[in-house]
Amino acid sequence: MSDRMRLNLFTMNAVEHVSVGSWRLPGDQSHRYHDREYWTDVARTAERGGFDAVFFADVRGIYDVFGDSHEPAIEKGVQTPSNDPAYVVPAMAEVTDNLGFAVTKSTSYNHPYQLAREFSTLDHTTDGRIAFNVVTSYLESAADNLGYDERMDHDERYDRADEFMDVCYALWEDSWNDDAVVRDADAGVYSDPEKVDQIDHEGEYFDVPGPHSAEPSPQRTPVLYQAGSSDRGREFAAENAEAVFVSQPTEEAVDDYVTDLRERAADAGRDPDSLAFFPGIVPIVGETEEIANAKHEAYKDRIDTEGVLALISGFVDVDLSELDPDQKLEHIETEAIQGVVNAFTSNDDREWTVREVAEFAGLGTTSPVVVGTPEQVADEFEHWFRNVGVDGFNVKEVARPDSLQDFVDLVVPELRERGLLRESYEGDTLRETTFGRRRLPDDHPARQ
Ligand SMILES: Cc1cc2nc3c(=O)[nH]c(=O)nc-3n(C[C@H](O)[C@H](O)[C@H](O)COP(=O)(O)O)c2cc1C
Repeated sequence: MSDRMRLNLFTMNAVEHVSVGSWRLPGDQSHRYHDREYWTDVARTAERGGFDAVFFADVRGIYDVFGDSHEPAIEKGVQTPSNDPAYVVPAMAEVTDNLGFAVTKSTSYNHPYQLAREFSTLDHTTDGRIAFNVVTSYLESAADNLGYDERMDHDERYDRADEFMDVCYALWEDSWNDDAVVRDADAGVYSDPEKVDQIDHEGEYFDVPGPHSAEPSPQRTPVLYQAGSSDRGREFAAENAEAVFVSQPTEEAVDDYVTDLRERAADAGRDPDSLAFFPGIVPIVGETEEIANAKHEAYKDRIDTEGVLALISGFVDVDLSELDPDQKLEHIETEAIQGVVNAFTSNDDREWTVREVAEFAGLGTTSPVVVGTPEQVADEFEHWFRNVGVDGFNVKEVARPDSLQDFVDLVVPELRERGLLRESYEGDTLRETTFGRRRLPDDHPARQ
């Protein structure tokens, strides 16, 4: 466990992320997701609150499982319309000094030679404040639009991800020596070819001779985030992730997940304590309990249940429009996000009906919602941090930007008062901010 709590803002460069319908709240600014100023304001506020990073989720494809149609997603704004997160990062970096940025990219629909260059560029442009949230993508509609006959099978997507990361690691870590760039004007040598190596990767999915086309960036490999929760996904996370996004909704489930991942990491030859765990959480805070409860009620009022079901149908790859609202959800092995299926079918002894899922998932999908005064919300954060043993939180928004502003103005001072949250940043890069080191540890596969 870390000695100081880490915080990420979990958001999306889209009109809506995980609180479907909240763009309809009075004064909500979600529609400004395409404005640079919206994101530079978010960056300033997050840095004021001592956040490690703004974590951008992203998705390939459109949510068209519900009712076998993309129309509900379009009508309700279900993560649609959206923009690519990577392009707002330089503007956000420009107005901040320490805040990091986690960008989600898919290993199923990118090429590692290209993606490695994009992240090297972002790491240079942000002075080493970039993270890569490694996802394998889940929507069939992504495959349809990107020239594939069908979506790759769930586990095969992870096989491809394994090789994808091997190529990226070789390009980031092994291709250019630290002293390869010599800039010797008299000799006419910009970089010493002796110090720039081919990677000569030949594999099942990729043949990449190299060398990498970008020179080493401050972190070389970006900070690595992952959120796999199926058996195969956990294996991948345990081998590769530095920070793991936990989607389990209860303390027991989070505890089981963390224990399992640490064991798997140890089996993979890594120091199990080098992994950091971030559950999602939805804080709703007010100066008094009455104010907080009134906000909660107002937020619940705007949940768009059909939109929520369109989102969850895409997550679990089951058309929930075909089920009776009072039907209980049954456990299945999905080709999409197993973690979301598990959240509603494998925890506690509780059984969830479709209607209950639609109501619960309206505010932050699978994460706990914490409502109260700054002290009460801080109590809950402190409890999870000290007793459940997580390293920090991915803070999920409902109202934008009010949820972030409320949290930074009301809860952050309370967490600082308790000595739980940093007063200022130490180190320059994101890896230094979150882990106190600039480069990946030697036991990480990228350094082998
Ligand atoms: C909490 C959480 C957040 C996720 N965020 C994204 C995302 O932003 N984009 C994406 O394509 N996949 C996202 N995923 C999907 C996973 O990264 C992974 O591809 C998917 O969960 C399938 O693996 P699994 O079956 O092992 O969970 C997320 C999953 C979880 C549980």
